Amino acid sequence: MTAKYQLIQKDREQEGIDLDVIQPVVGPPAVDVTRLYRDQGLLTYDPGFMSTASCQSSITYIDGEAGVLEYRGYPIEQLAKEADYLEVVFLLLYGELPNRTQLHEFDDIITHHTMLNERLKEFFGGFHYDAHPMAIMVGVVGSLSAFYHDSLDINSPRHREISAHRLIAKIPTIAAASYKHNVGEPIVYPDNELSYCGNLLHMMFATPCEPYHPNPIAVEAMNLLFILHADHEQNASTSTVRLAGSSLANPFACIAAGIASLWGPAHGGANEAVLEMLTEIGDVSNIDKYIAKAKDKNDPFRLMGFGHRVYKNYDPRANILREMCKKVLTELADNNNPLFELALKLEEIALEDEYFVKRKLYPNVDFYSGIIYRALNIPNNMFTVMFAIARTVGWVSHWMEMMSDPLQRIGRPRQVYTGPPRRDFVSLNRRS
Ligand code: ACO
Repeated sequence: MTAKYQLIQKDREQEGIDLDVIQPVVGPPAVDVTRLYRDQGLLTYDPGFMSTASCQSSITYIDGEAGVLEYRGYPIEQLAKEADYLEVVFLLLYGELPNRTQLHEFDDIITHHTMLNERLKEFFGGFHYDAHPMAIMVGVVGSLSAFYHDSLDINSPRHREISAHRLIAKIPTIAAASYKHNVGEPIVYPDNELSYCGNLLHMMFATPCEPYHPNPIAVEAMNLLFILHADHEQNASTSTVRLAGSSLANPFACIAAGIASLWGPAHGGANEAVLEMLTEIGDVSNIDKYIAKAKDKNDPFRLMGFGHRVYKNYDPRANILREMCKKVLTELADNNNPLFELALKLEEIALEDEYFVKRKLYPNVDFYSGIIYRALNIPNNMFTVMFAIARTVGWVSHWMEMMSDPLQRIGRPRQVYTGPPRRDFVSLNRRS
């Protein structure tokens, strides 16, 4: 549905430009500026994309002011309470919740695609023993395109679906293998008897000499974390996947690009940064000093796990995770670990501090996810990898949506040039 919007140019007060307005199902309308450059020679300027809708999408809806997050129309609170992660994966990929038969079939497909090609395993040996698992993820996921020539026709909906299944199924196996490489243990094969999250824990913590039985609370916590992290509309990594995909790159390369973008501490790397920050703070007695550092504009220190680009009142995912965090800390964690006491105290102080309250800087999903992962004995450098596993379905769903859109074109932002104006070349012997 479109309506007309008038843009009045400052230097031509009398003349207006008619622009279409796109009305979404819910959320703010979007002024369609696609013809602005062609018709008027004007660009729009929006660093950080504060006011730019880069695409139309029917996957996820966020209202940052109201703290609303919905996947395909279903509120995150209901999905978190009722659903299994694979149900949510199906929902994001196909647009509807599966019935019992569809879920059974989908579970079967994912379960039977978890193994890696044996040659792929050799790639892990090429990485230094202490390589960051995210570095391994970027490399190994990108290399999947070298193994699946049978389904790389991005113009074929069936090939795209096969690639989606392979990515969702194999990412946990690659992630667990990255961890095993890091700790110097042999890679553990998937166990088809286990759930998606149970199998991931098994592949991470079982060894050939000792079986591992995933703790049901750990599986429940991971299922919840994965649902909450499954998609978040056009964030940095998803936009990266879309931009990479817009040049018609293969899906494995696109997801590798998304993983690279997620790694940054301002995005998915924040959960790892939260634990590093807590370790640096060290003791409850140091909190005031670090709060003061976070407020000091000349100090680059930020309170990691606080603040969000979109959620300016509260992060609904953080609200849900706070409860799970308490449950995991009570039932699984070493209660003598001073980091947990420190985290809860920091949360309490920051929630009352005027600086944070005024700027609406609340704990985000990563504040609690880092603490939960630590309580599940998952090492810090695997936190962002966990996020990447959960988000793969979001990236893949957006890539599938974009690839099936007849209007999809290569993404090509413009710029406002601020360099020197045209000048003549000066030969080397005439330069001072
Ligand atoms: N600690 C201290 N001050 C902060 C923090 C923080 N974590 N976050 C924002 N601020 C301050 C800024 O200095 C700024 O203050 P000012 O208005 O006095 O200049 C104000 O709050 C607004 O901050 P911006 O950086 O403009 O907000 P933006 O929307 O660009 O950034 C971001 C959002 C990147 C998430 C930021 O809050 C941050 O760096 N947080 C810590 C990292 C983090 O936890 N990231 C995870 C996000 S969730 C996710 O990706 C799944």
